[in-house]
Amino acid sequence: MEVIITKNYDEMSKKAAQIIANQIQKKPDTVLGLATGSTPLGTYQELIRLNREEGLDFSKVTTFNLDEYLGLSPLHKESYNYFMWENLFKHININPENVYIPKGDVQDAEEFCRCYEEKIKEVGGIDLQLLGIGSDGHIAFNEPGSSLMSRTRVKTLDEQTIKDNARFFTKEEEVPRFAITMGVGTILEAKKILLIANGEKKADACAQFIEGPVTSQITASALQLHQHVTVVLDEGAASKLKRIKYYNWIRNNKHLVQKYLGR
Ligand code: F6R
Repeated sequence: MEVIITKNYDEMSKKAAQIIANQIQKKPDTVLGLATGSTPLGTYQELIRLNREEGLDFSKVTTFNLDEYLGLSPLHKESYNYFMWENLFKHININPENVYIPKGDVQDAEEFCRCYEEKIKEVGGIDLQLLGIGSDGHIAFNEPGSSLMSRTRVKTLDEQTIKDNARFFTKEEEVPRFAITMGVGTILEAKKILLIANGEKKADACAQFIEGPVTSQITASALQLHQHVTVVLDEGAASKLKRIKYYNWIRNNKHLVQKYLGR
């Protein structure tokens, strides 16, 4: 796991966007896994800028979103479908046919989840998966206690997540209790993973998933089992890490790391 500590949200966002842009430049028909929430907003803004000003081409890119609230139609203003179109897709040259987001108002959720997994396989798997992290350590909506082998399914949201996400709704009672989410097992099959986090409210979760044991109580800790994970944090989110010096040394000596490790 490579841990990159940036000064602030802006630097974190630009670094993450650069990693995604490099991936698209290397493989124009990249399959991206995408997240919603406050954290990736700056990354998406930078990707929009790269598309408009520097010609970053999304025309062959395919995307799969991690999750969606169950019970919200794709047009609902708090749906993740709406979020993605407002904050990224409508501003870039992506082909709408290549955009996949779980459908919150689907009749048969179980069948939908099975087809979602199939579709990911059909396109050859996810090349680069972008993740945020919940303050309870979740990735996608894999709440504490989720199986680390889990697949795309319906998940009951945790109290903490409902509280955290109430800021997007008029009142807490409006936050859906259920969501369709990729599983931890699904996420671990992505070829590369990029997790971003900012702010002190994520510091405990980041310390636990990077430096603590692998546990289903902090589902992000399963990323320790993956071979190619990059974590980009701002100073707030990194503030409870014990090995900051080590991570910074690697960042400042990238030429040596590239020479000996080839990445
Ligand atoms: C959203 C998702 C969630 C968020 C997490 C952090 O698609 O998968 O795991 O990444 O809840 O949310 P923010 O960024 O709003 O703090």
